[in-house]
Amino acid sequence: MSRHEIVVDLGSRSYPIIVGRGVSRELSDHLPPTARRAVIITQDGLPSVELSSIPSTTIRIGRGEEHKNLATIESLSREFASFGLTRNDVIIGVGGGMVTDVAGFAASAWHRGTAVVHVATSLLAMVDAAIGGKTGVNIPEGKNLVGAFWQPSAVLCDLDHLESLPESETRCGLGEIAKYHFISGQDLLGFDLDARVAACARIKADIVAQDEREGGRRALLNYGHTLAHAIETVGRHSVAHGEAVAMGLVFAAHLAHRLGRIDGDRVALHENVVGGTYGLATRPTEVFAIDDLMSVIARDKKATSGLTFVLDSERGLEVVNDIEPSTVAETLRGYLIA
Ligand code: GLY
Repeated sequence: MSRHEIVVDLGSRSYPIIVGRGVSRELSDHLPPTARRAVIITQDGLPSVELSSIPSTTIRIGRGEEHKNLATIESLSREFASFGLTRNDVIIGVGGGMVTDVAGFAASAWHRGTAVVHVATSLLAMVDAAIGGKTGVNIPEGKNLVGAFWQPSAVLCDLDHLESLPESETRCGLGEIAKYHFISGQDLLGFDLDARVAACARIKADIVAQDEREGGRRALLNYGHTLAHAIETVGRHSVAHGEAVAMGLVFAAHLAHRLGRIDGDRVALHENVVGGTYGLATRPTEVFAIDDLMSVIARDKKATSGLTFVLDSERGLEVVNDIEPSTVAETLRGYLIA
């Protein structure tokens, strides 16, 4: 397996994503030179990282989306204060997407912005969540509704950490990789693991570099996410994020078809890639009320004008605004019972 280095090119805020076996041992090389101390934010049961270059303390946050909230940010901030963490120091997020989102948001707010380095330990975090600078926490009204754009100083994707990953976590990562399949048109499962993770990181890095604040192209990274967030919120996270994204990709294809944007073969391709090639569930097994899903979809952050989805077309993926709620609801009805 090779070591890959991908740069997220954001001028003075550019940063490397390092992919390979054992790369978390490089952590000290990626800390800001001003850092005199570090807070490591992680969870029980995750791989630990060695940091001998500067004094550090480790804080473990709760597992599960119910801990991804403002109470966790307050409690972390109070621990930063007791440790004497300053804006010249560094926060290190070691974990999956929940840890990197929370650590990133805590870093964005601590002393109005403190450096953060992510050591991604899940497939989903390596290919998506740790990269791109969107950080945040949930409130009962929806996922990630409170947050900030705050880019990390480096992202380390140590493939050794994937060896002990539970099967369900691998499925979550595959949901996001399936998304990149449709964004890039590449058969990413045909690559070796290191090249596959690096290819996904490169797709994301390139899009973030072109559109950091999601004024345009970056919104394509939300492919599959509108229904996914609704399934996660209504189901109280009984369906994990990446698995919900896989379902959202298939639903988006059905909606694009209903709107006359793609033909039936393209819908079948989505069903086959997600359900066959990637071996993921294309629909929830739990019964969801359409009205409940619709009310979360209407609150989606992307919905600046009517209902908004990223949808496929002959020209590729596009953000489509002002979709009639009744069209979405009818498509949902057909999709859920198929
Ligand atoms: N943290 C995920 C992103 O920026 O897209």
